[in-house]
Amino acid sequence: RTVAILAGGLNHERDVSIHSGRRVAGALQEAGYHAKVLDVDSNLLQRLDAIEPDVVWPLIHGSTGEDGSLQDLLELIGLPYVGTNAHGSRLGFQKPVAGTMLSRAGIAVPRSTSLPQSLFREVGATAILDLVALRYGFPVVIKPAAGGSALGVSIVKEAKDLPGAMVDSFAYCDRVLIEQYIAGSEVAVSVLETEQGKPFALPPVEIVTNGLYDYDARYNAGRSEYFVPARLSDDLLAMCMDVAVTAHRELHFRHISRSDLIVDSHGVPWFIDANSAPGMTQTSLLPQAVARYAEEKDMAPSDLYSQIVEAALT
Ligand code: DAL
Repeated sequence: RTVAILAGGLNHERDVSIHSGRRVAGALQEAGYHAKVLDVDSNLLQRLDAIEPDVVWPLIHGSTGEDGSLQDLLELIGLPYVGTNAHGSRLGFQKPVAGTMLSRAGIAVPRSTSLPQSLFREVGATAILDLVALRYGFPVVIKPAAGGSALGVSIVKEAKDLPGAMVDSFAYCDRVLIEQYIAGSEVAVSVLETEQGKPFALPPVEIVTNGLYDYDARYNAGRSEYFVPARLSDDLLAMCMDVAVTAHRELHFRHISRSDLIVDSHGVPWFIDANSAPGMTQTSLLPQAVARYAEEKDMAPSDLYSQIVEAALT
């Protein structure tokens, strides 16, 4: 079978996506597929036509890949594809939307406020920053309302650093998310769905990093330490896995997703972010969970990737 992997794209996570695409292509080739990585550019439709893939795996992180645009395009073309459809992608990509939906589903979600850049011009930035300081105190988390790889994310410890954090965030998205800071262990839980309607969680991955788990800490080997499974009690591991499966279902994700959580000192797993096209690079979290799960089940990681492709074809 031929699998067209869509990678690259024109957003800030382009390089991450290219690495993800190459890695998944390698795994699928190992499993016997004819996997081709296509950069998403103006020749995309002609190249898809030429390759005539049986299935497409969109591996663009961030906008067009995770905001539902590419999925809408693939629906238009009529090609089967791996992953979440346009509707679910849109739900997951907008952090305020995903947070509200999961809070309604009974999951602990940090308090947050999302504001567009235009409001800062209309109402005045100083007045808004004063309100933020009053309502949230410090530290507070400032991040783009949509986006990935922690680009534009800051943990602000003092009022004087708020304006700079807002500017960084607006470089990536015209809406900012101001979020209650939760202290605790960072845990990422990936979910696969190789049979329709039966998502299952992979072993949670704990991330230990010096400071913010930022772009550098994510993609430069050795900058972060990972524990798979996370160093939590069995009960807490199960709770984290439940949260991730609930997020996968509530956000209408399909085949593959990853939820990022923080487990606080009281043992509460807080939902922070969901990814419908999680990173698949050498240092990314989902591949580490796949490797551990495959080892436990005495199978090759490529078997799991091929099961996902087959799920997209059924
Ligand atoms: N947005 C990146 C790719 C991730 O979360 O893995």
